[in-house]
Amino acid sequence: MSLIYIFFAAFLVITIIVVTSLELYRLKLGKIPTIASSRIMAEAMVRELKRKIDAGELKQPFVIYDLGSGKGSLAAYVARHLPQATVIGYELSFFPYYYAVFMQKVVGPKNLSFRRANFLDVDLTDASAFITFVSQDCMVQVADKLKAATQRRIFWLSNYFHFPESFWLQPYYEEEIGLVYKRRMYAYKLG
Ligand SMILES: C[S@@+](CC[C@H](N)C(=O)[O-])C[C@H]1O[C@@H](n2cnc3c(N)ncnc32)[C@H](O)[C@@H]1O
Repeated sequence: MSLIYIFFAAFLVITIIVVTSLELYRLKLGKIPTIASSRIMAEAMVRELKRKIDAGELKQPFVIYDLGSGKGSLAAYVARHLPQATVIGYELSFFPYYYAVFMQKVVGPKNLSFRRANFLDVDLTDASAFITFVSQDCMVQVADKLKAATQRRIFWLSNYFHFPESFWLQPYYEEEIGLVYKRRMYAYKLG
């Protein structure tokens, strides 16, 4: 068999493994795709976090969690633009998680790290802010858990997904992001 066939077969097998793994995690985690937030969404989140820092509402030391960090590009952007923050991404899906860890080791930044865990099962009470692009159902579970567990002020910026209209937490700010393909960013204050 020529070398080209061997490469092609290897490429095909790897692609099938990666796609199957992504799809299995997608189904397990509530059909949330592993797509990343766009650069302009990341910029909008950083802008809003900087506004809160300038207003003195976000104080040092601050810890920002990306709940469902995927391949880590949103968390990396935020960490790079807010060097004073500690940014931690939680991700369960195998390939995105290890890709994010690899990229952080190669290009940094140092204030960024990733944990392979279900963010619904971990203690998030030291958070200053959340950045998320996960389903409404996940958001509700995290918010309800934190309401009972802490009085701490936590800023929460969500790409596209928002709490139900009748929920106890409602946005203090919303922004439409993008020129052609528009997405909304919702900003919440817990506590
Ligand atoms: C749409 S991606 C968002 C990635 C990144 N936050 C961004 O905005 O670019 C959502 C990610 O959340 C992960 N996820 C969903 N539920 C999760 C859970 N309970 N614990 C950990 N990760 C979860 C999925 O595997 C997926 O990679």
